[in-house]
Amino acid sequence: MSNAASFGIHDLSFATTEYVLSHAALAEYNGTEIGKYHIGIGQRSMSVCAADEDIVTLGAAAAAPIIARHGSERIRTVVFATESSIDQAKSAGIYVHSLLGLQSACRVVELKQACYGATAALQFAIGLVRRDPDQQVLVIASDVSKYELDSPGEATQGAAAVAMLVSADPALVCIENASGLFTADVMDFWRPNYRTTALVDGQESVEAYLQAVAGSWKDYGEQGGRTLDEFAAFCYHQPFTKMAYKAHRHLLDHAGHSADQADIEHAIGQTVAYNTSIGNSYTASVYLALAALLDQADDLTDRPIGFLSYGSGSVAEFFAGTAVPGYREHLRTAANLAAIARRKPVDHARYRELHEWSFPADGGDHPTPQQTTGPFRLAGVSGHKRIYQAR
Ligand code: CAA
Repeated sequence: MSNAASFGIHDLSFATTEYVLSHAALAEYNGTEIGKYHIGIGQRSMSVCAADEDIVTLGAAAAAPIIARHGSERIRTVVFATESSIDQAKSAGIYVHSLLGLQSACRVVELKQACYGATAALQFAIGLVRRDPDQQVLVIASDVSKYELDSPGEATQGAAAVAMLVSADPALVCIENASGLFTADVMDFWRPNYRTTALVDGQESVEAYLQAVAGSWKDYGEQGGRTLDEFAAFCYHQPFTKMAYKAHRHLLDHAGHSADQADIEHAIGQTVAYNTSIGNSYTASVYLALAALLDQADDLTDRPIGFLSYGSGSVAEFFAGTAVPGYREHLRTAANLAAIARRKPVDHARYRELHEWSFPADGGDHPTPQQTTGPFRLAGVSGHKRIYQAR
């Protein structure tokens, strides 16, 4: 057994969808002034799933490059975090485990708490690798964000998966022990089991998020956390990228710091590049912010990064990580940019068709049209069983 002293994110890879809808196309259809989308909420486009894509295909596509680089011999746990679960009983992670050919000596489980689930997964994974530093945990955050057509939430949809290999002596980011927690029972965003689209009280959700920022920061301080001016940058959950700016301004105000716009841009600006183009990926979004930061920032070696993970309902956690010496040699910048660039634009009519696509619930054979060019696809449903294929 190694004598590891640090634990955290050893590798991070993400995948997104086959298609993309621009906010310009959405604005043209619904008559919204484009400034509301580009400036007001900070979004340029949203990832849209093909009929044969879902959280499993996205999650497997995100994780496959990690397995290719590191092998899977040390992975004895897979934690799949999602809001957009595809089964009430079976973990989506088991389909990914199968698609990736992982060993049978492995525990696989699914976690849910809206957009916060992946942070719980990361913290639980660190607990496991602390207990046995020879083991690694594969954390997958995968979500398809869906609101009703023509609703205010529609402009804040998106889809992506982030896979993280959590280990001792990580190559990218060490996660520190201090962690600030906050839970409050609020009905800001939820999705009853019988619905495919989320319900949301938009203004309430923004307020609940800001309250959770203050609450988790307060607890972080009480747990012996760092002071605000120690951080090089802040990765927030980004349901839309403007929310990160609102949240950081709120944090600075709350902590009694002056909220200069240039300081806020410095703290947030390099975390939004992927989310502005992908849209809300729920539990993956805060880790897409991390990917964008690591890919774009000048050297962050040994610099603390703040993380604010928020999941409606609600749970929030503020914690810190430091970039590890040599981390830049392990980034996947070219692949990340390619995952975004490979998406095919769809017009508004095609987007609506894809949005409304669903399988009949009659137990029959329902193959999906071949649409995705990604490495995995949902081939169909037969006898109520989902059938996945490696392409
Ligand atoms: N040019 C520039 N800005 C403009 C503009 C224009 N022409 N027109 C409007 N704006 C600005 C508005 O002033 C406003 O800015 P501020 O918030 O800074 O005041 C912004 O654009 C949005 O305008 P509205 O509030 O009027 O927009 P809306 O009523 O359509 O609601 C929303 C926006 C609440 C985000 C809605 O899209 C929504 O409900 N989204 C889903 C819920 C959500 O994402 N909540 C976030 C917190 S909850 C969470 O984080 C969990 C999660 O992932 C769901």
